[in-house]
Amino acid sequence: MGLFAIGDLHLHFQSELKAPGQLRDPLWRNHEERFRRNCEKLIGPEDTLVLVGDHSWGRNLTECEKDLEYICALPGKKVLLRGNHDMFWDAKKTDALNRQFAGKLFFLQNNYAACGDCAIVGTKGYTFEGPFYVRGNRIVDWDRTEEAHARKLVEREAERLQASFEAARKDGYSRFVMFLHYPPTDILERNSPFTAMAEKYGAEQVIYAHCHGEGRFHDSLEGRHHGILYTLVSGDRLGWTPLRIL
Ligand SMILES: [Fe+2]
Ligand SMILES: [Fe+2]
Repeated sequence: MGLFAIGDLHLHFQSELKAPGQLRDPLWRNHEERFRRNCEKLIGPEDTLVLVGDHSWGRNLTECEKDLEYICALPGKKVLLRGNHDMFWDAKKTDALNRQFAGKLFFLQNNYAACGDCAIVGTKGYTFEGPFYVRGNRIVDWDRTEEAHARKLVEREAERLQASFEAARKDGYSRFVMFLHYPPTDILERNSPFTAMAEKYGAEQVIYAHCHGEGRFHDSLEGRHHGILYTLVSGDRLGWTPLRIL
C-alpha cells in the first residue's frame, strides 16, 4: 500500500490556459499524457496518490469537469489538496465536494485520509511571497503591509491544519504525513507556524508543491529539518513522475 504525491498539474482540457509558457516549455508539452503513463506504471489500485493542489485552470466546477474526469481515471485512491489556483473549490464547500465525488476523489481540508496506519493530513497553507526589496543580490526589506496580511492568512490555514491533525488523532492515529500546497516557509524563514505544527504532532514528512520553474525549486525547506523530512513535489520538478512517499 504505497503513498505517492505530486502537485501543480495545472490541467486545462476545457478551460482557458492562463500560463501560455506552459505551451512553449518542452517540460510542459503533453504533460497530461506523460503523467498518466507514469502513474499507470507506478501506482496500483490499493495505492494512494495525493495531488498537492493547482489541479486546474478552470474557474468553476463546469470548467473543471474534464480535468477532474482525467484525475478520476488515474490509478489508485486520489486525495486532493486545495491550491491557490483551484477556483472550483470553495473552502466552505469541501464537504459538498466530498459527497459529490464520493468513492472517486477525496478532498482534504479540515479532515484526513487514512493510508494504512498513517494519516494523511493537510491544508492549502500560505506563504508570504513579497514584494521583497533587493540591493545588490541581498534582500534588504519587504512590503510590511503585505507581510501583515500574509500573517493573517497563515494563521487561518494553520487552524485548518490543526483541525486536520485533530480529526486524525481523535480516530487514534499517531503517524502523520503532512501536506501543504504552499511551501512551509517563505524564502527568508527556516521556521513557521506550519513547521511548528509538524513538530508538535510529530509528522514524519512534510510534502509541498506550488514552487515551479527552476528558479523557485529551492525557495523553502528541503531534506531533514528538526528531524522531519521536507520535500517539494511540484510536477515540473519531478518530471511528471509521482514521488513515492511511503
Ligand atoms: Fe502551481
Ligand atoms: Fe500554487
